[in-house]
Amino acid sequence: MDRVKIGINGMDELLNGGIPVHRHVALFGGPGAGKTSFAFEYLYRGAKAGENGLYISLEETAEDIVENMSAAFSGITDIKDVVASKQLEIVKPDKFLLEDIAEILEDRITNNGIKRAVVDSATMVKMAFKDESEYRQTMFEFFSLLKNLDCTAIMTVEAPNQDLAESSFGIEHFVMDGIINLYNLGREDQRIKAVEVYKMRGTDHKREKVPFKFTPTGLKVFVGEKVF
Ligand SMILES: Nc1ncnc2c1ncn2[C@@H]1O[C@H](COP(=O)(O)OP(=O)(O)OP(=O)(O)O)[C@@H](O)[C@H]1O
Ligand SMILES: [Mg+2]
Repeated sequence: MDRVKIGINGMDELLNGGIPVHRHVALFGGPGAGKTSFAFEYLYRGAKAGENGLYISLEETAEDIVENMSAAFSGITDIKDVVASKQLEIVKPDKFLLEDIAEILEDRITNNGIKRAVVDSATMVKMAFKDESEYRQTMFEFFSLLKNLDCTAIMTVEAPNQDLAESSFGIEHFVMDGIINLYNLGREDQRIKAVEVYKMRGTDHKREKVPFKFTPTGLKVFVGEKVF
């Protein structure tokens, strides 16, 4: 089976080698859990390995993302260049409609050969809907469309509370092939970040929650370590 290596240090070990190609993943996390950084590094690692990526940002501008990621990963000095060369394209649509997002995806797959995509965040899409059932229906249609596109996508979702695995399940939990949860856990005098692969269709994977950290050269997942 072909897999897409996320490329984040340690992360592919949790997935027995990576995301099965053409599977689409929801990345859940609370505020500041690291969703944007994780999703951005997924595209950055792909870009460096010759797979163009598309970052559809519904929150931050392209400039903000480049600035924030360059600050978070100070040891990665070519973020601006990789973005300027369109190996990692950042697009901020004016509208939050899934049809528009799908159109951008199709266009960039055809015209820039992108293989990896990120939508940050699905929550912004959801907020554009007046009622939940309409969002569910559209999400379902969007996912069916995604299935026919030649890319492997990560969609970030803001988690309603810290206890991600137990929180009420949204439509994203059911339609997406995979779920990765990011935690920002409160400990006595600090917060610890942790990651867990909650489900991934098409592959076995590790099930434990493991710590991860920001390092200047990227995120680092401490496979085999426990979260205390
Ligand atoms: N170099 C760093 N070292 C440690 N922590 C960092 C570093 N850079 C960023 N962070 C932490 O990561 C958080 C930002 O991560 P990111 O923007 O990826 O999270 P997010 O889940 O997308 O957040 P949001 O909910 O705001 O969209 C910061 O708020 C900070 O807590
Ligand atoms: Mg974010």
